[in-house]
Amino acid sequence: MTFDAKAFIAEQTEAIHKQVPGKAIIACSGGVDSTTAAVLASRALGDRLLAVYVDTGLMRKDETEDVARTLKDLKVNHRILRAADEFFAALRGIVDPEKKRVIIGNKFVELFEREAKAFGADHLVQGTIAPDWIESGGQLRDRIKTHHNVAGLPPNMKLKLVEPLRDLYKDEVRAVARALGVRVAERQPFPGPGLAVRIVGEVTPEKAALVRDASAIVEEEIEAAAKAKRVPLPWQYFAVLLPIQTVGVHGDLRVYGQTIAVRAVDSIDGMSAVYSKIPHEVLDRISTRITNEVPGINRVVFDVSNKPPATIEWE
Ligand code: XMP
Repeated sequence: MTFDAKAFIAEQTEAIHKQVPGKAIIACSGGVDSTTAAVLASRALGDRLLAVYVDTGLMRKDETEDVARTLKDLKVNHRILRAADEFFAALRGIVDPEKKRVIIGNKFVELFEREAKAFGADHLVQGTIAPDWIESGGQLRDRIKTHHNVAGLPPNMKLKLVEPLRDLYKDEVRAVARALGVRVAERQPFPGPGLAVRIVGEVTPEKAALVRDASAIVEEEIEAAAKAKRVPLPWQYFAVLLPIQTVGVHGDLRVYGQTIAVRAVDSIDGMSAVYSKIPHEVLDRISTRITNEVPGINRVVFDVSNKPPATIEWE
């Protein structure tokens, strides 16, 4: 039987309406799943739903503005929490990737709980979809890294869970999104801790700005090459800022600059991956642009490792 998005929306709107007599809150990451869940719940609850988006300062270029615009256009009652200073302060001096994840996860929950309380919510809407829980016999997937994800807020928040997309697969979620008029820029997967795990070593606002700008160039160039059919669009493609400085030249001067690693991988589900065979002329453009446009970067390297043994992210 083919999936009927319109019937699903009608059914779920009614179900959410019945399930939530009071107020509900949702953490919106700007991705397809949480945005679709937010719009669906908003159809059922109107202003009794609050969608919260946390700007951690570790988001991709233009991401916060895009999410704010989408939620506004779709008339979802929402709040954009600008919390970059808090996240950077909490991350000061931390180099261990797992500690970064825990700090970011905890901070996120703290801010979100505060909002839920202030709003008076007693229900939590989540954009969980079938692949998030179905593998490993219904357990959440086993992972090498403790993945913090906004879809994975702890259930001890004392809020009753509402998961309208729980039985859907990604293509069905996309069909629902289209039927609801959700036009999320379908960006590649992005980890919950954001750019923090793409800065090897201590996270600072300055480093976040560098890796954000370098990543935007990687995205632009690879997407342009994919559009021109010079390379299949990889599963993920981004920049990583390394904690080493190397010697370079700037005019007549010897300078000590920073290094960006370009990572691009092909994968089906992120569980295993091979590095993308990006043509040299595309790498050349990426390298030239990064060293010209991102101050302080004088060296760009391309990561040719597969997963396993490497992972997709560097941390
Ligand atoms: P790795 O680096 O483990 O990544 O090969 C596999 C996939 O998971 C993403 N990833 C994360 N996603 N929180 C997330 O929500 C995380 O902490 C995290 N770490 C990695 C990664 O981008 C890739 O898609």
